[in-house]
Amino acid sequence: MKPKPFFSEKLLEWFATNHRPMPWKGEKNPYLVWLSEIILQQTTVRQGLPYFERFAERYPSVNALADAPEDDVMKLWEGLGYYSRARNLHATAKHIAHELSGSFPTSYEGLLTLKGVGSYTAAAIASFAFGLPCAVVDGNVYRVLARYFGVEDAIDLPSSKRFFTELANELLGKNDPADFNQAIMDFGATHCTPANPNCKNCSLATKCVAFLENKVNILPIKNKKIEKKERFFNYLIINSDKFVFIKKRLEKDIWQNLYEFPLIETANLVENLSNSHENTAFTEGVLALKNFKFIKKSQPQKQLLTHRKIIATFWELQADNDFVLNNSEYLKIERKNLKNFAFPKVIDLYLQEKVLTLF
Ligand code: ADE
Repeated sequence: MKPKPFFSEKLLEWFATNHRPMPWKGEKNPYLVWLSEIILQQTTVRQGLPYFERFAERYPSVNALADAPEDDVMKLWEGLGYYSRARNLHATAKHIAHELSGSFPTSYEGLLTLKGVGSYTAAAIASFAFGLPCAVVDGNVYRVLARYFGVEDAIDLPSSKRFFTELANELLGKNDPADFNQAIMDFGATHCTPANPNCKNCSLATKCVAFLENKVNILPIKNKKIEKKERFFNYLIINSDKFVFIKKRLEKDIWQNLYEFPLIETANLVENLSNSHENTAFTEGVLALKNFKFIKKSQPQKQLLTHRKIIATFWELQADNDFVLNNSEYLKIERKNLKNFAFPKVIDLYLQEKVLTLF
């Protein structure tokens, strides 16, 4: 048999005998499929599963989710991270409930128009809920296909996404797109794993190029990029009518000798004060201040350095003119004199553009 039909046949055979029971398997309700796929983005099955069950129980329909107060949705999402997923989830539920009479779009292209739904999630909903022949393509799929077909193009090239999507769609067949998609996800997640894949017990090995040419460990190939470590900076702009506080960066670190606003560095992005308890440094840093009011915060501003990605959020606080910081490193200067100090680019951009959202 030729490699392509052999691949699909053996994959589906594998799936028939290696069933991972999961509550969304075989689910045809587009709401529940969508919910599970949003939860499973950037999340393992083990971590996501209890969240899926809680959401499905509390909000059994898209209308129920749409009617929920945002605070409740965020509360139920608490601990799962990537909170924009929860906000998009809620916004999309409202859109579907109010603009689309409670019904999900039934085509791949229609699904793609939903906020928070990209090509992967659209293909998952289209195939699982509507039986449409749309192949899902994610990291698991890249790995399985790159190995079996011996594809040596870097998977992070823009052209690779098109290539692998076309290949996966050829393999998908028209009969059972849902089974094929679930099978390739599960096969990648549990059998053809990144490290120590189970080639010894693999019914695809006889035609797997990576296995036959001893390339399992080098495929898939990724373009090497410098790993940029992310650092999250929270700048407090303590504003009175007249004054603002700045400080010179003296540490042996990036931006030595440039000026900056009072800084609280955190391990993760601080999105709002209600999730700031995840960032103790931020909470404690802010609580150490007194007699101020939060006014506004910026969108996270990015600055790429050679080995670092700085993500800076600017928090504007309103203070009285006689406000003092109990730390002699800080200079209390008049706002009009800010132009006399050298700041890192990301702060300069903030000062020029004042990219602030109402808080
Ligand atoms: N990851 C994303 N979607 C999934 C699914 N449907 N099953 C298992 N893992 C997944």
